[in-house]
Amino acid sequence: MSNKCCKNHTDWQMKDAAIDLARLEPVLEQYDGVQGSLITILQKAQELYGYLPVDLLAYIAMRAGVKPAKVLGVATFYTQFRLNPVGKNLIMLCQGTACHVNGSAAIEEAIREELGVEEGAITPDGLFTYNNVACLGCCSLSPVMMIGEDTYGTLTPERAKEIVRRIRADG
Ligand code: FES
Repeated sequence: MSNKCCKNHTDWQMKDAAIDLARLEPVLEQYDGVQGSLITILQKAQELYGYLPVDLLAYIAMRAGVKPAKVLGVATFYTQFRLNPVGKNLIMLCQGTACHVNGSAAIEEAIREELGVEEGAITPDGLFTYNNVACLGCCSLSPVMMIGEDTYGTLTPERAKEIVRRIRADG
């Protein structure tokens, strides 16, 4: 795809019909021609849509005048970016060294049992996805998981299950 090949971007078709490109328009306009703004644009797109499907990355590349391969490279390099949809609550389960030593495998087992899905999958109710991640930076609380902005430390398998149940009860 050539850069800035067409201005008629309203014809762009997204596979995921829930992604309304018009919502991204103010962001693209705000950063139009601003050097070094690609990561910010991707962050804001992810805030809007929850994830960054490949056809959205291609659209951003076209609009920002950046090569699609570069946009894909940035989106796959940084762990903060997700290329697949996730549940409403993303559980990041730390598998760093301290958490591993303190029982993160048992926490994962409990989470998997409670959710009934494998890592990366969305629960049938759309509420949860869990991912194993590297050190979350709060090893003194290990084992640790984050759900959204909240950090839960010194977990036991039972406590991890309780946290998930509480969030599920709140919808
Ligand atoms: S190893 Fe889990 S928070 Fe550092």
